[in-house]
Formats: sequence, structure tokens, C-alpha cells
Amino acid sequence: MKLQAFPYPLSRIGIIGGGQLGKMTAQIAKRMGFYVTVLDPVPKCPAEHIADAQIVGSLYDPAKLRALAQVSDVITFDVEHIDTQTLKQLHEEGTRIFPSPYLLETIQDKLKQKQVLIQHHVPVANYQRVDALTPDILATLPLPIVQKARTGGYDGKGVVVLKSMADSDKILPTPSLLEEYIDFEKELAVMVARTQHGEIACYPVVEMVFDAQTNICDIVAAPANVSPEIAQKTQQVAIQAVEALDGVGIFGVEMFLTRTGEVLVNEIAPRPHNSGHYTIEACTTCQFEQLIRIISDLPLGESRLLTPVVMANLLGEQGYTGKPVIEGLAETLAIPGLTFHLYGKEITQPSRKMGHITVVDSDLNHALAKIHQAKTMLKIKGERVL
Ligand SMILES: Nc1ncnc2c1ncn2[C@@H]1O[C@H](COP(=O)(O)OP(=O)(O)O)[C@@H](O)[C@H]1O
Ligand SMILES: [Mg+2]
Repeated sequence: MKLQAFPYPLSRIGIIGGGQLGKMTAQIAKRMGFYVTVLDPVPKCPAEHIADAQIVGSLYDPAKLRALAQVSDVITFDVEHIDTQTLKQLHEEGTRIFPSPYLLETIQDKLKQKQVLIQHHVPVANYQRVDALTPDILATLPLPIVQKARTGGYDGKGVVVLKSMADSDKILPTPSLLEEYIDFEKELAVMVARTQHGEIACYPVVEMVFDAQTNICDIVAAPANVSPEIAQKTQQVAIQAVEALDGVGIFGVEMFLTRTGEVLVNEIAPRPHNSGHYTIEACTTCQFEQLIRIISDLPLGESRLLTPVVMANLLGEQGYTGKPVIEGLAETLAIPGLTFHLYGKEITQPSRKMGHITVVDSDLNHALAKIHQAKTMLKIKGERVL
């Protein structure tokens, strides 16, 4: 057998967006010997500390996107709010971009995303389109109902639950979806990796717990506490969703498990995902390495879960801003099995994702207890009180 030879650096990867996801992708890419350039508007963004080079510029600036393409053999992104028009042009001119900008365009619009899923018989919550929701229209609808802005939402921004007419003032003044309110038993997620040749590596089912106030996913536990049948069905639905999109890359598939045991896809993130951070410490191949392998046309890694694991986001404490001040770090690091990640954001803000911690333990309940203990001690405050 003639073995293929590679140069060093292996190849040049361009990442649109240099937040924590771009940073962690860059960390793995650097570990593996790639050359990395990131595009981000913030000069000292988290990924800048790791990448070989940064292009400072807007994710919507055609010239900057072209500049990134010029210094990259392949491009990926860590955020979906970017200029797909230019990316589609670059794609047509032969730039390798994964996932495809056409797929990204579908995902950017929650209505289009839903339509594609339905076309491919992927189970989703019932919905209707509404271009301008008014209290009068709301009065005709079964409540509670969920309004979702078609574009631009993230971390719960762009989603409101309208429980009664008293919530009329929460109506989003933007073209939206109105979605059936799902009184779910759990929120589940699965990371699905899919190659340029359609091969798939599916990660285990995880359980997501959301902070009631901020609506940001607070804790992720793997494996999810569900029956083997539900776990298998959930993985199948996640794979079906990524295949429906003909996705190439790594995808975070968010799902609802209903009280009657149905699995519905909520939404799909076409990139590494918060609910996949646990893979760094707990899986054979982490989500970031899987993405790099896929965009570089290298074989998939194994996605096996090696140990029970719990991940908690570290959000900026309420009432603080300015340079981060990390309280309780030494006490937290004394917890066995705990790993600490700080993203390197220069400024903290209330509820901003500043870092995360992961605990591995042979007993998932012990891991959960340790995470809760850590969360009572570890606080990301700031130099300035608001
Ligand atoms: N149809 C629904 N029924 C009940 N809760 C929902 C529904 N859709 C969304 N939610 C809640 O709102 C959260 C955010 O909604 P999501 O569509 O995932 O938007 P985002 O882009 O902000 O993540 C979900 O994780 C879930 O907790
Ligand atoms: Mg979501």
C-alpha cells in the first residue's frame, strides 16, 4: 500500500468567527499541525490567542471574507450570523467551505430550516408563519404559544413564550414562526459529525438543563438519563435531521423529548455546539477535532463516550462588567475530575459565556454533585460594578 504523504503545516484552515468555539477549534487544529487564520471584528478575540493570524473585520464584510479565503485552503465558521451571499460566491468560485453556505442560509432562517426538516419527514413541533404578530392575532391563538424570530436569534434571544394575553408586550416585532408550546419532559441534544462522503459519527445523547432566568443552557450531562430505546431513537432522529440538510461538518441537534416519548427536533446548529463541549474530556475524539478531520477530508474519529461527564457554563455574574475577576478558582480546581476552561474574553457582562467547567466521574450523580458544588464557589465577576 502506498501511504499518502502530507506537508507541514498540514493545510491552512480559515475560521469565520473567533469566539470560544473558534478558539477551541483553533486549539485542536494547532495541536494537529494546521495553520489557522481567524476572522473576527474584535482585535483580541478568544481565538486570536491561539491562531497563527487574525484578520480583524466584520463577519459581513465581503472584502474580509475574500481575504480569509485567500490565505486558507478550507473555511469553516463558529457562528451562523455571517454573510452567506459572499460565501456563496466564493463557493461558486471554488473555495472549499464546510458546512456549505447554502445549508447555512437555510439554517439562518428558522422557517426555511423547519420546511426542509418537514420535507424530509423529520419530526418537529407544529408551527405557522406570521409576518407581524399583533395582540389581536394572539387573541385568536391557543396559548401558551412560542414566538421565534425567523432570523438573528441566539441563546434565547429571539424566542418568547407567550403564556397569556398579559404577555402581549413581549411580542417580537419581526417576521416569525409561531410554534406549538411543547410541555417537554427533557431537552436532549446530539452532536452529529458527517463527512464529505456522507459517513457519520454520532455522539451520545445528552441532557440539557436551562437557566430559567437567562434561557441559556446551564448544564449538560452525558449520557442522558433516558431508556436505551429513547436514546437510540434520539440519535436516529438527529442523524435524519443532518442528512435532511445534506450537512457536512459537525452539527448540534437540539431536541425535545415529550411526555409521551416522542422526539422532536427543535433546531440545528451547523457548528461545534455548547452541548458538545463535554467531548473534549469525555470522548475519544472531541467535536472540534471531528470538524477539522471532516473539512480536511481525513477519516472520522471515534465518537465513543469514555466516562460519564457533566459540563456547566460559566456565565458572567449579574451586576458586573469590565475585566474579569475569577472568584473561587483554587477551591474549584481542588475538585477531583474537574477541568476549567476560560475563553479569554477581555470584558465580562451579565450572562455572557465566559468559560465552562467539566467534571468526569465514573458515577454521573457524583459528577452532577461536584458541578453543583463548583457552581456555588466559582464566579466570574468583573472589575466594574454595574
Ligand atoms: N416549542 C417550544 N416549546 C417549549 N419551549 C420551547 C419551544 N421552543 C423553544 N423553547 C425553549 O426556548 C429555548 C430556546 O429556543 P431555541 O429555538 O433553541 O432558540 P435559540 O436559538 O435561542 O437557542 C429552548 O431551548 C427551549 O427551552
Ligand atoms: Mg437553541
